[in-house]
Amino acid sequence: MEFGTPLVGNGKKILLLGSGELGKEMVIEAQRMGIETVAVDRYDMAPAMHVAHRKYVVDMLNGSAIRAIIKRENPDAVIAEIEAIDTDALLDLEDQGVRVIPNANAVKTCMNRMQLRKLAAEKVGVPTTRYAFASDEEEARRACKEVGFPCLLKPEMSSSGHGHVLVKSEDEVEKGFRESVSHARGKSRTVIVEEYVKVDTELTVLTYRHMNNGSIETRTIEPIEHQRPSYYYVESWQPSTVSQEVIARSREYATRVVNELGGLGIFGVEIIVSGNRVLFSEVSPRPHDTGLVTLASQDISEFQIHVRAALGLPIPQVRVLTPAASHVILAQYETWAPSYLNVEKALSIPGVQVRFFGKPSTYDKRRMGVVLANGNDVNEARDKARKASSLILVK
Ligand SMILES: Nc1ncnc2c1ncn2[C@@H]1O[C@H](COP(=O)(O)OP(=O)(O)O)[C@@H](O)[C@H]1O
Ligand SMILES: [Mg+2]
Repeated sequence: MEFGTPLVGNGKKILLLGSGELGKEMVIEAQRMGIETVAVDRYDMAPAMHVAHRKYVVDMLNGSAIRAIIKRENPDAVIAEIEAIDTDALLDLEDQGVRVIPNANAVKTCMNRMQLRKLAAEKVGVPTTRYAFASDEEEARRACKEVGFPCLLKPEMSSSGHGHVLVKSEDEVEKGFRESVSHARGKSRTVIVEEYVKVDTELTVLTYRHMNNGSIETRTIEPIEHQRPSYYYVESWQPSTVSQEVIARSREYATRVVNELGGLGIFGVEIIVSGNRVLFSEVSPRPHDTGLVTLASQDISEFQIHVRAALGLPIPQVRVLTPAASHVILAQYETWAPSYLNVEKALSIPGVQVRFFGKPSTYDKRRMGVVLANGNDVNEARDKARKASSLILVK
């Protein structure tokens, strides 16, 4: 691909569809490597826009808007940073020679729980919870009975726990089905009904596909462990505390699923550990929110790995340099131009750093930043991150 006089040394350019906190870190890492950056999102002043060379504010479900921007910018790689993108436009663009990261089909598959589950459980054959699909009340009743109670309903397309409904018995099915589909993204009325398992712990296996001596190689990183007292991300740490056997199985399942998805870049493979079962749950075809911890723990963060992989830059084996933890800083209510109180108290704890995303407004439970902490072991790191985040107030 040819383009005009490069703004920066090596003349490479990435364009991000989605400019949230994960995108912001990718832009920072890209700029450190001398790469030009363009940030796109549906609202102005989104986190990555604070640091990118240029920005566009458009509805990313509008295919013609995306096509126009990509044609105009002609980037070396288009990085899908969120799920809510017109994925058919990405497929077209890829057909025309645009490099979509990791690839357009992987982006489309991963945003759809039905397609992803079929790929992982039926095609690749990794273990998952028992599941069935349903598109109306009648099918939902059958699916729930087949899977067994309690079961968890999730819309085919949704993220961050939206529309997850726990159904405990047959008389809750209809209401649960209606509730779940009411939170779906798009028009689909299909839900996945999953066996509800007791979650002992959860892992994210960061898995990356990159060019190595002319061919694509897949590698996994020492898993991250995380806790979700509710449906949203609260805390993660690395290395994990699970057994070597669980780690080995998780890394194997992650490699197999990611190789089926293909393309270039990093993937966050979510694994649920329940008793002696190690279950593939889902995968993000991009850096993962639990992987924010890698900003403190690894020699190359998940964000830099994604950018390097996208542009074909080398990625030597990634190492975890220190035990570290990350804890979210959440808003409690709705406001514009929030301020952050007690940051100096948090920063006075040795080994603690903060990363505020710079979102222009808040709402209840909106993630506004994270605390990163390192320690001699993960318990110390977790204690410090938890303590520091509890000190900070969003007002
Ligand atoms: N079948 C299940 N049984 C018990 N808990 C589950 C199950 N599926 C998901 N969860 C819990 O809900 C969280 C969110 O589910 P997930 O499928 O990852 O949806 P999302 O796309 O919203 O992240 C998981 O991280 C896990 O803690
Ligand atoms: Mg998830």
